[in-house]
Amino acid sequence: MKRVILPALALASVLAFAASCGNSGKPADGNKTGGDDKIVRPAPPDEYKGKTNPTPDAVEEGKKLFETHCVTCHGPNGDGDSPVGSALTPPATNLTDAKLQDAIGDDYIFWRITEGGKALGYEGMTPFKETLKEEQRWQVVAYVRSLKK
Ligand code: HEC
Repeated sequence: MKRVILPALALASVLAFAASCGNSGKPADGNKTGGDDKIVRPAPPDEYKGKTNPTPDAVEEGKKLFETHCVTCHGPNGDGDSPVGSALTPPATNLTDAKLQDAIGDDYIFWRITEGGKALGYEGMTPFKETLKEEQRWQVVAYVRSLKK
């Protein structure tokens, strides 16, 4: 019997721990820039700070790239509603959130697409600096902006 009970107890405590973690749903103190989650959104590093989008109207091009590279996690509508994106910690951001959109600059979006989650110590989001050309990353920024609700 022991062999059955011990793993069951271990599993129960893991589940209890996971449940207690999941309930601390308040934004961290560092998150002063919008969004209802716990992601800390610092200003982009100097090499990105203040950059402006050279192709702000490239929404159609950006949409195609988004459909290929981003919907797996951010969902077809960009609102983070996807099985893969919601399974990540933190989950893939709802990019349609107006509060978030107002709080972040194009430089921030470009930086996060370029460097991925690692820029903030998260594993979830892949960096796109090798996959997409600089111009394509800006086209995606233009599309992300068009998602604002
Ligand atoms: C493998 C899953 C995955 C893919 C693919 C992915 N993302 Fe993300 N993305 C995430 C996760 C998870 C987060 C939240 C954690 C973080 O900020 O790194 C995130 C965060 C972001 C943020 C920062 C928003 C914030 O909360 O501050 C932006 C902007 C973004 N993604 C845009 C994109 C775009 C555009 C693409 C496609 C070029 C893309 N992502 C592809 C998982 C992904």
